[in-house]
Amino acid sequence: MADFKDNELVNKIVANNNIVDVIGEYINLEHKGKNFFGVCPFHDDHSPSMSVSPEKNIFKCFSCGASGNSITFLMDYLGIEFREALKILADKAGISLDNNFTKKKVNSELEELYKVNELAVSIFKNNLASSSGKEARDYLKKRGLDEETIKYFNIGLAINNNISSALSSKYSEEILEKLDLCKSYDNKLYDTFVNRIMFPICDKDKNVIGFTGRIYREEDKNESKYLNTKETDVFKKGNILYNLNNAKEFIRKEKEIIICEGQMDTIRLHTIGFDNVVSLSGTSVTKEQIDLINSLKCDIILNLDQDDAGKSATIPLGDAFTSLGKNVNVIVFKGAKDTDELILKNGEDSFKSAYKNKVSFINFKLDYLKNNKNLNDAVELSKYINAAIESLNELNDEVLIELKLKEISEKYGVSISTLKSKITKKDKKVIVNTKPKEVKRYTGYQKMELRIIYLMLNYEDVIISYENNLGFLVTKEFTDFANEILEFKMKNGEFNLSNFITHVYQNNLDKILKEVMENGGPEEYTEEELDYLINIIKGTTVENEIKRLKNIQKNSLDEEEKKELARKIENMRKEVLTWYKK
Ligand code: CTP
Ligand code: MN
Repeated sequence: MADFKDNELVNKIVANNNIVDVIGEYINLEHKGKNFFGVCPFHDDHSPSMSVSPEKNIFKCFSCGASGNSITFLMDYLGIEFREALKILADKAGISLDNNFTKKKVNSELEELYKVNELAVSIFKNNLASSSGKEARDYLKKRGLDEETIKYFNIGLAINNNISSALSSKYSEEILEKLDLCKSYDNKLYDTFVNRIMFPICDKDKNVIGFTGRIYREEDKNESKYLNTKETDVFKKGNILYNLNNAKEFIRKEKEIIICEGQMDTIRLHTIGFDNVVSLSGTSVTKEQIDLINSLKCDIILNLDQDDAGKSATIPLGDAFTSLGKNVNVIVFKGAKDTDELILKNGEDSFKSAYKNKVSFINFKLDYLKNNKNLNDAVELSKYINAAIESLNELNDEVLIELKLKEISEKYGVSISTLKSKITKKDKKVIVNTKPKEVKRYTGYQKMELRIIYLMLNYEDVIISYENNLGFLVTKEFTDFANEILEFKMKNGEFNLSNFITHVYQNNLDKILKEVMENGGPEEYTEEELDYLINIIKGTTVENEIKRLKNIQKNSLDEEEKKELARKIENMRKEVLTWYKK
């Protein structure tokens, strides 16, 4: 099995972080005895059923069975990958990781495609710095983008057919077309992007997957303003959030994401110190983008353009995130169409104050619903109020609903009881970040197997008992897991649960770990209990074997074989009896 390259380093990084500090950053933990307790984020709960053990450096929820170490907590809580979680912990512990270590392994074909895009980025950057880049540099300067910003976003310049001439000797036409860097026409290869300022677009793992190119020359003003890489194997427009590659770590730190419409808005915000920012590249949003944002576990700030298109796109976005249980706010300002324009025209403080005065999504929506309605007209007013109630009905906060109804009642002179009667009492569900729980039933001996494994995880003595007295269980996957524990102990000379959890995740055994944690019973055990478990499991295994042999015996035509089997079965029965008598 593919172990992580250097588990010694991984284990060191985990060991150098106290899990109480790691989890405590996200969840309130209270000290009780030798452990800490908090509300488990992995199931819908209000009581502190998650225990965190600084001694073992692991956490465990007694209610849903979620368990793990610092790495797996961050992976599950933040929806990130192993190497990303490792990076966070390494930074916290002040241990440096080389880039290869944290870079995702991709398949080699994709890797090659990314490499070609990467080369295109450096060609575009060279162009911008070269003498042919003068007009483009002036354009960027005029738009107020300084050197640092140009570097931060890897902005470059496409000139006439220099990608095709620079790369076609090294890479096949097929690759260049596949990436939409070039197009062939009449057996000749042409650049897709010509005379455009180039903005590389990365996926969240920092691979360059495509480009957006903007016109900048006066003479091109009738061309379309932005040109994007067409949908390719690596460039799936629906999955993209511009700048997520850079923003991710800021979003995590600030627990908040600012979502803009155009990439220039994101770029401008970087110049005034906002880095937890991404752009949708327009007003349309896909389910994949929403899922991606949802997985970031942060508050949402919608900052689309202030025109009709931007405002109306804010509504379904806000609705979607509200129904996912997110805290959603909206930035509103006057005097400019978008953030880029606002900051250029009125300075950074104008945005900072709009940011400070952001409004809750429900307030934004209740306001938005008034648009184009004459509220002095009873028919239109009633339409508005009904629409407002419909929106309030979507909220999960009953107190907020009541307060808002009061406001409407006072403002428009409709009795609160009439308004309330329109709120349908439904199960206001809080959406939590877990998949529905699988209901799994275990047979009696399977419960015992889970119990043995659970004790093995917690006590080296039990691992030794297992090795000496059993060496196998009944169910194949549990046997494999128990032997994984045994092997891990033998390989390392001792058994460290936190390190084993890392190993489990790397080898996709976490499903079984979860089953064990959820069904393993109490942490304490007695020698009698352990003996009993071992003997029953032994007996069950042998009884299964007896059943199998009996079946062969029944169908056998060879009298000698039948006798031999009968003898074997008899001996096994005797042996089992001695275990039960122990
Ligand atoms: N867009 C696009 N294709 C277009 C126009 C727009 O892909 N023909 C996307 C771009 O990602 C752009 C976003 O939609 O950033 C918002 O468009 P718009 O508001 O027109 O552009 P701005 O962000 O204002 O761009 P700029 O300030 O450079 O004019
Ligand atoms: Mn703009």
